[in-house]
Amino acid sequence: MPPPLPTLATPTLLLILLIASPAVSCSSLPPEDGIRIVSAEKRIDLTAPIVKVFLTLKVENAPAANDDASRVLLAFTPTEAQHLSIVKATRAEGKRKKKSYVPLPVEASDLDTTATNGARLYSVLLSSPLKPGEATTLEVLYVLTHSLEPFPAEISQSEPQLVYYRDSAVLLSPYHVLEQVTYIKMPSNRIESFTRFDPTSRAGTEVKYGTYHNQMPSSYLPILVHYENNRPFAVVEELVRKVEISHWGNIQITEQYKLKHGGARHKGVFSRLEYQSRPSISGASSFKNLLARLPPRVHSVYYRDEIGNISSSHLRTDSHKSELEIEPRYPLFGGWHCTFIIGYGLPLQDFVFESVDGRRYINLTFGCPLLDTVVDDLTIKVVLPEGSKNPQPVVPFVTEKHLETSYSYLDVVGRPTVVLKKKNVVGEHNVPFQVYYEFNPIFMLAEPLMLISAALLFFIACIAYLHMNLSIGKSS
Ligand SMILES: *[C@@H]1O[C@H](CO)[C@@H](O)[C@H](O)[C@H]1NC(C)=O
Ligand SMILES: *[C@@H]1O[C@H](CO)[C@@H](O)[C@H](O)[C@H]1NC(C)=O
Repeated sequence: MPPPLPTLATPTLLLILLIASPAVSCSSLPPEDGIRIVSAEKRIDLTAPIVKVFLTLKVENAPAANDDASRVLLAFTPTEAQHLSIVKATRAEGKRKKKSYVPLPVEASDLDTTATNGARLYSVLLSSPLKPGEATTLEVLYVLTHSLEPFPAEISQSEPQLVYYRDSAVLLSPYHVLEQVTYIKMPSNRIESFTRFDPTSRAGTEVKYGTYHNQMPSSYLPILVHYENNRPFAVVEELVRKVEISHWGNIQITEQYKLKHGGARHKGVFSRLEYQSRPSISGASSFKNLLARLPPRVHSVYYRDEIGNISSSHLRTDSHKSELEIEPRYPLFGGWHCTFIIGYGLPLQDFVFESVDGRRYINLTFGCPLLDTVVDDLTIKVVLPEGSKNPQPVVPFVTEKHLETSYSYLDVVGRPTVVLKKKNVVGEHNVPFQVYYEFNPIFMLAEPLMLISAALLFFIACIAYLHMNLSIGKSS
């Protein structure tokens, strides 16, 4: 006998479900397996400009199910899907003391067309299928960018920045959810307002929704939170990172940034006097410095913009990392832009290795070294030494890839260049990636040989010229 269908706990909740957002109504996803969510906890972290959501889902394949379940679906509204930067999932394995979290692959599902409510589905692929009657716990993290809307949209220098955040009090899911609670964490207790769906409570900087029971698939209870968030809304609209490998011992990295303050637009004139005399309240949402985390053993670090070198940067280095604090020429207020370039060198032996099959590879960190920023449009160009063959990038997520050829001094055939592009990049994308390539060391002689032959040619030309001059002089 299948277990009885869950019934709605209270008439209030029924009412709420009936008037749930018109954007997402009840769907009829084919329940091909017997999955249901026994308990769901959703923790939304709104303390930064980038929204992080942590889900703990206890999922069960119903005892009466016919088949094993090999994946669990996650649902997002179309707006969320648009701003979704990354989805990561792990599965808790082992008993209490020996508990470990095994990462699971997550992929955009091809089931979108069957979800009639417009929800976008992602599949978490289970490492071992769930047999009927089995349960497991999944931990999911997803990151949303550009999801805090400044309201008011324009503020003056002395006003704090208030933002709106929209979500659902209950988990949007294609499955039945037996028990659920949602927590929203804000940076301070200056919370203007929040939607209530009883039971709703607030303790300091945190708002709690639930516990709710027995939600039908695709339930959605729209909520709106209005609160103060003065953290730097640093948005890198465009970043181009160029990595040049020289087998003579150095890797040169050049990063071009187009930075914007993505918060509430600045209104009125900027008063530097007020800014400097009342730093705690004047320009609370502006920022004047940023931190970049670079590898240890960096050297020849520079930071400049179109005017020239900017001296206000500090580099701190230890054996694990280097931190570069950069300070643009003026503080950034909402809507203001600045562009700059950071460059540095790295020792070759820290990042380029030989693999077992004899190929070489560079192992670098993807993403952007600036902390707590979103990169709308990231391009990484890995310029391989001249004479390299068959370059092959290995990146642990989907990116746009293509090959081009770059030229620099003394190049004859040009340098194979791997170009990787990705939109909507956050700190969670700062993971190692590799570019494999074949390289014949004989090519290392190419440049010195070119120099020598150039010098020889020059001498020959000089001698010829002198001879010519003489012979012309004689005949005239
Ligand atoms: C800027 O700094 C870099 C590295 O410190 C240096 O090589 C370069 O000459 C400087 N340029 C100017 C214009 O000062
Ligand atoms: C790349 O470097 C990271 C740490 O910097 C290391 O954990 C990883 O194993 C390396 N990958 C390869 C393929 O060498």
